Amino acid sequence: MAHFPETFVWGAASAAYQIEGGARDGGRGPSIWDTFSHTPGNVARGETGDVACDSYHRWQEDVGLLRSMHLSAYRFSISWPRVLPDGDGDWNPDGLAYYDRLVDALRAAGIEPYITLYHWDLPQALEDRGGWQSADTARAFGRYAAGLAAHFRGRVTHWFTINEIACIVGMGYGRGNHAPGLRLPLEGQFRCWQNVMLAHCLAEQALHEADPANIVGLASTGRICHPVTEDPADLQAARRLTFACPDEDWTFTHQMLLDPLCLGHWPQDAGPRLRACFARTDPALTRALAFGKPDVIGLNIYNSVPARMEADGPAFVRRPTGWPRTAIGWPIEPSSLRWGPRFIGERYGLPLYITENGLSCNDKIYLDGQVHDADRIDFTTRYLRELARGIAEGADVRGYFHWSLIDNFEWYSGYSERFGLVYMDYAAGQRLPKDSARWYARVAADNGRCL
Ligand code: BGC
Repeated sequence: MAHFPETFVWGAASAAYQIEGGARDGGRGPSIWDTFSHTPGNVARGETGDVACDSYHRWQEDVGLLRSMHLSAYRFSISWPRVLPDGDGDWNPDGLAYYDRLVDALRAAGIEPYITLYHWDLPQALEDRGGWQSADTARAFGRYAAGLAAHFRGRVTHWFTINEIACIVGMGYGRGNHAPGLRLPLEGQFRCWQNVMLAHCLAEQALHEADPANIVGLASTGRICHPVTEDPADLQAARRLTFACPDEDWTFTHQMLLDPLCLGHWPQDAGPRLRACFARTDPALTRALAFGKPDVIGLNIYNSVPARMEADGPAFVRRPTGWPRTAIGWPIEPSSLRWGPRFIGERYGLPLYITENGLSCNDKIYLDGQVHDADRIDFTTRYLRELARGIAEGADVRGYFHWSLIDNFEWYSGYSERFGLVYMDYAAGQRLPKDSARWYARVAADNGRCL
């Protein structure tokens, strides 16, 4: 039997571009993901988020599904170009009305909205003016956050500013496999990194000024290492490799974001090219950091890397032949939910949420008309048991959001990956709860005691 705190929040998560569709409805402006997905060669089978799960029209069904799962929270993102078609300036009343309906319906159903302000769908108009390479985008984001804070005052108190700076910068402006598809050198990526951080700080300041009751976080992802044994030396190795920050692999680290925000300095053991960048930190960011320490940290954790102490220092450990993996090919490492929160919690001393965790499966409708996703139930049971261990060992984790509520547009993989608790029949637009949805409903209803 697993034990979770009595106030533990059970939720599910989604993101605007991945589920909403309605790409040209209600005055929405184009985002960089519209441009990127409509450019041949960027997304598997040329798929786009034009229709996706059509949540723009079927949001009531989504709320009904959350309710049927006894979930007390829903993490979703607001599409910046839906409410501000040019990214800045005039608000789109139809766009705001869509989120009003959603927020009000959630609250009426007893489901707390946890809003992410930016889950990668930058207004194209801002990208045309430099995107995250420009500090003006950060300032526009501050105004966007201030407007939403005023609009939802008294109705929404849980906010995440930015989802995964690692993917925004590392994939969007580094590897080029996410929108806007640029491949900048390290220095250019670092400029973007600073601007996204500045955006977070300005948004957090605006949210706190609008309502002191607002609880502001951000969702971070990056390498987590877990020790292969309980030996203190292996534990030390895992902790050190979790927080290593070499020039070749710095975007997918938590500390490049969280050290400056929470500890007031860049990672101290970074590589030489990064250290040269740190020396030229934008003074606007330095000033804004005073407002940027989050109230809570959101962690998106899918797996971790095994580590141990060897004679010449900490080392990654090769996984055994035939290691377990999900349909997308990611390793199954349940102890990531034990060690990730422990290491991050010890370093920053802030309350945590698991803002994403889950897996893709090769789900299909069986002969009996149901989706039997035993893999998802097995995976999530293992991960949640380890999360409970981490909490028992001191990690202050306040809630868990499964990724995802529903199968959706998985970025460059298009619709080929299914991460949902709910199956999406794309041709019919129909939603079908998988076995895992019914299982997760029981977990939420008895606060994880059945695990
Ligand atoms: C992202 C989601 C994505 C999920 C699975 C996370 O990195 O925030 O948008 O669908 O991982 O790849």
